[in-house]
Amino acid sequence: MEPGDPTRYDRHVFRLVVVPLVLLFGVAGTTFALARWHPAKLVISSGSVKLGDPYRGATTFSTTCASCHGQNGSGGIGPRLQGLAVTLARVKQQIDAGGGGMPAGLVKGGAEQDVLAYVATLVKPSG
Ligand code: HEC
Repeated sequence: MEPGDPTRYDRHVFRLVVVPLVLLFGVAGTTFALARWHPAKLVISSGSVKLGDPYRGATTFSTTCASCHGQNGSGGIGPRLQGLAVTLARVKQQIDAGGGGMPAGLVKGGAEQDVLAYVATLVKPSG
């Protein structure tokens, strides 16, 4: 046996180190490639509407909006918001301007962004 020839030990190292590394990078690479390609976009589109914290928004909703729209937007005097096909821009407009029996400007600024983030979890994203 010549010096430099692969030994049993070298082949062992190859199987224990190189093969798992190749598998790891192969799988990770495929995962990243698929993530970049992103065939199924499941993001809620908010357009240019800024969204805040949906958890804070849920609290504000229950104190400010639920009297008309029901707890969790299940409906009341105001329309049911669950599954309603509206854009968030439209929701923001309704909050800002009111109309049809809904008072304008019930929430503003950060509180409004929080409520919008919460409403985004209820309505059917339609743009
Ligand atoms: C005083 C009762 C009342 C309160 C409080 C109220 N709403 Fe409304 N809301 C209404 C009514 C009534 C309508 C239906 C308006 C119409 O048909 O034009 C409405 C409509 C809406 C719509 C539907 C807009 C559309 O285009 O379909 C959204 C979204 C909405 N409200 C969100 C909210 C949010 C968020 C809050 C809390 C910040 C809120 N509302 C508070 C009564 C209320």
